Amino acid sequence: QVIRREDYQAPAWLVPEIALDFRLGLSATHVIARLSVTRNPAGNGTPTLRLNGDQIAALAVRVDGEAVNDWRMDGPDLLIDLTGDAHAIEVETALNPAANSQLMGLYASNGMLCTQCEAEGFRRITFFPDRPDVLSTYSVRMSGDKALFPVLLSNGNCTETGEGPDGSHWAQWHDPWPKPCYLFALVAGDLVANHAQFTTMNGRAVDLNIWTRAEDKDRTGHAMASLINSMKWDEEAFGREYDLDLFNVVAVSDFNMGAMENKGLNVFNTRYVLADPETATDGDYDAVEGVIGHEYFHNWSGNRITCRDWFQLSLKEGFTVLRDQLFSAAMGSEAVKRIEDVRVLRGAQFPEDSGPLAHPIRPDSYQEISNFYTATVYNKGAEVIRMMRTMAGAETFRKGTDLYFDRHDGEAATCEDFVRAIEDGTGLDLGQFRLWYGQAGTPQVTVELRHEDGAAVLELAQQVPATPGQPDKQPMPIPLRLALFDRATATHRVEELVVLDQARQTVRFDGWAEPPVLSINRGFSAPVQIEAQRDPADLVFLAAHDDDPFARYEAMQSLVVGHLVGIVGGRLDAAAQDRGRAAIGEAFGAILADDALDDLMRGELMILPSETYLAEQLLVADPLAIHAQREALKAWLGREHGAALEALHDRVRAVPYGRDAAARGARKLKTQALIYLASADAVGTAPRARAQYDAADNMTDRQGALMVLCGLDVPERAAALDDFHTRYAGNALVIDKWFSLQAGSLHKDVLEHVKALANHPDFTMSNPNRVRALYMAMAVNPKAFHAAGGEGYRIIGEVIRKLDPINPQTAARFVPSLGRWRRVDAARGALMVEELKAIAAEPTLSRDVREQVTKSLG
Ligand code: ARG
Ligand code: ZN
Repeated sequence: QVIRREDYQAPAWLVPEIALDFRLGLSATHVIARLSVTRNPAGNGTPTLRLNGDQIAALAVRVDGEAVNDWRMDGPDLLIDLTGDAHAIEVETALNPAANSQLMGLYASNGMLCTQCEAEGFRRITFFPDRPDVLSTYSVRMSGDKALFPVLLSNGNCTETGEGPDGSHWAQWHDPWPKPCYLFALVAGDLVANHAQFTTMNGRAVDLNIWTRAEDKDRTGHAMASLINSMKWDEEAFGREYDLDLFNVVAVSDFNMGAMENKGLNVFNTRYVLADPETATDGDYDAVEGVIGHEYFHNWSGNRITCRDWFQLSLKEGFTVLRDQLFSAAMGSEAVKRIEDVRVLRGAQFPEDSGPLAHPIRPDSYQEISNFYTATVYNKGAEVIRMMRTMAGAETFRKGTDLYFDRHDGEAATCEDFVRAIEDGTGLDLGQFRLWYGQAGTPQVTVELRHEDGAAVLELAQQVPATPGQPDKQPMPIPLRLALFDRATATHRVEELVVLDQARQTVRFDGWAEPPVLSINRGFSAPVQIEAQRDPADLVFLAAHDDDPFARYEAMQSLVVGHLVGIVGGRLDAAAQDRGRAAIGEAFGAILADDALDDLMRGELMILPSETYLAEQLLVADPLAIHAQREALKAWLGREHGAALEALHDRVRAVPYGRDAAARGARKLKTQALIYLASADAVGTAPRARAQYDAADNMTDRQGALMVLCGLDVPERAAALDDFHTRYAGNALVIDKWFSLQAGSLHKDVLEHVKALANHPDFTMSNPNRVRALYMAMAVNPKAFHAAGGEGYRIIGEVIRKLDPINPQTAARFVPSLGRWRRVDAARGALMVEELKAIAAEPTLSRDVREQVTKSLG
C-alpha cells in the first residue's frame, strides 16, 4: 500500500492531552491511555475517530467514562464513532516488551525497558492517531518493581514519586511542551547517572544526566562534555536556548538506529555515548560528539518545530544534520570535517541517488516510512540547506533561520514553510531552488575552461539524470564557489560564487594573459558530480597549492579517480598509465613532505577514493577490477615512498596520547602509513604493525594496527586477533569492532572468516549492532560482497531472510547493496537478482523488506 504526499489531509480529531499509566513488567506491561479528543475545526468533520495500532489488542475501551462496545477494528486500527465535539477516551492494552524483537514501541534490552517511537512505534504501545501533526501534552505515570527498575524516566519533569505495595514504586512525569507521539519516551531500569549542570544564556539551570549501566558510567565523560558544548554552541550559532530544567540521555545496547531525540529524554545507541581512550577510536569520539549534538539540536529543529507529515522528514533531519556538521566543524577542524562529510555523501548518498531506490529529499510516496531514513533525506537534505546558506552568506542565513524558528515555533511544519522563511528572512529568491526538494538524482555538471583573447572562458552545463518515476528533469540552481589561479605565482584572484541555473552557461573572466588553473566547487559548495577534462599537471598543481582545503583534497581525489577509472575503463594506454601514476606519486610525495600541512589534514589527503566512489564513476563496473587497480596503486605508492612512509611512521609513533589535534593527527598518520607500507610489503610490515598494536595505549592505534594485520596473510594476524578478543571480552562495543575488522578485511579468505564468525558464540542476530558489525561490514567490503561465484550475495540474502521476522527495519537496510545489480557486470548482476527474487519469494515479508526488494527489482 502506497502513501502519497499529495493525499495529505488534516487530522479530523485532535488530542490536546494524554495521560498514560504504565504498570511495568519485562514480559507483561499494562497500559491505560486517557485521551482528551476534540474535533479539529480544520478537519473533514467525520464522526469517526481513528486510533492507529500495530500488533496490539484493546482490552477495554471507555468513552466519557462509560465502557462501550460499539468500537470496531479496521485492520490494525481502532475506530470509534463519536457524537459530540469533545470526548474523553480511555483504552487499555497489554504488551510483552521482552518479546519485542523489532525494537519499535516498548521493548526490553539488558533487563531494562525503553521505547523507540519514531516513526510509527507509539501505535505498538497504545491506540493513538500516530501522525506527527497531532500534538498533545503528556502526563505519564509508571509503576514497577523497585529492584528491577530503580530508575523511572519519561519526558519533561518528574513531578512526584512514591512507594507502592510489594516492593513496587512509581513516578509521575509531566511534559509541558505539546509534542507528537513519536517524541514520547519511557525508560525503566537499573541505571546510574553521570550528572552535570548547564546554565542557559537566560540563566535557566538545567540538570543534565547521562544514564548507563553502572559499569559504563566512567565512559560517559566525553558525551557529557559534548552535550554541554552543544548547548552552548546552539545558543551562540543559532540563538537557541534549552527549555526544560532537566535533560536526560540514556544509553541502550539494543537499538535500531543511532539515537532518538525524545523531548527531554534522548535515547541513544551505546556506541554514540560511551567512549574512553582505551576502547574508543578518534572516529568514535567524533561520532559521539556529532550524535550528541544532533539529538540535542533536534530540541529546536524537530521538537519545538516538528514535521506536518513524514514526507517532510528532511525538514528536521536535513537541517539538524547541517547543524551538527557546523557544530563538529566548530569543535574541531573545519576543513577535515567538510572532507569527511563529503566522503559520507559520496559513499552513501551518491549511490542511492543513482540506483533503484533514488528519491528526492522530500519523497512523493512511500510504503514504509522507516525505509526513508536515508542518506538522501539526511545528508543530501543537509547539503541542500547548506547551499542556501552559501548563497545567502552565513550571517544573512541566520536571519532566515531566526524567522523560521520564530514563525513556526509550536507547529508541525513543512519543507515549504522552511524555504519560505529562509526566503523572507534572507531576501533570496528561492523559486527555482525549490526543485532541489522534488528532483532526485545527482546533477552532473560539465566544466570546460577555454583561454581566448586574454580571457578565461568558463563553459558550464548541467544535467540531472533520470531516476525512477522522474524521467525528465529541469535545471536547478547550482552554487559553485570558484577561483582562478595564476600558475606562476600560485595565487588566485578573489573567489567568485557562480550560480549555474540554466542548462548551459558561459562565464567570462577578463585579464588573463596566460591560461589560469581552475579551482571549482570549492568547499564542495554544491552536491553535484563535476565532469571536467583536466590536465593531470593542473591537478598536481592544485593538490600542492590550493588554499581551499577541500579543493586541495579534491584535486588529489580527481587525479586518482581519473587514473583508476581510466585504467578500469580501458581508456588509458600504457604510457598514459605511467604518466598518471607518476603524477599521483609526485603529488603524494609532496603531501608527505609539506611542512605547512597539519597532520590531520595530511592524513585526509593520503586517503584514496573509495571503491564505491570509483565504481560510481562507471556506468557498469567490475568491482574486483576496481579493487585490484586501487590495491595496485596503493602498493606502488607504498614502494615508491617507502622510506618517507617509514620515517613518517617513526616520527608520529613517538607522539604521546592526547585529545588535541596534533596528537590526533599523529594517530591518523600512524595507521595511514602502515596501510601503504603493508600494501607494498606484507611480511616486512607485519612486525611494525604488531609493534604498533602492542605499544598502543589507545584504541585508535590498536584498532588501526589490527585492521592492517587483518588484511594480511601473516602469522601475526591470528595472534593479534586472539589477543584483542581476550583483552576486551565482555565489552560489546569493542567486540563489535573485532567482528567488523574481520568482515571488512582485505584478506583473501574473508568470506570463510565471515561464515565462521556467524557461528561464534559472541554472534547473535538479535542485537543490531552485532549484526551490522559482521554483515554490514561485509556488505560494504567489495572484495567480500562481490567475490566470484556470488557467495557474498547469498550470505547477505540469507541474512535478510533470517533477520526479517526478527527485526524488519534492520533487515531492510541490507537490501540496497543487492539493489545495485544494474551497475555491475551482467554475470554478477544476474546473481544479485537471483538473491532479490529469492527474498521476494518468501511467503511472509515485512513491509520494510518488501518495499525495498520490489523497488530494487524494478
Ligand atoms: N530521529 C532520529 C535521528 O535522526 C532517527 C530515528 C529513526 N528511527 C527509526 N526507527 N526509524 O536522530
Ligand atoms: Zn535526526
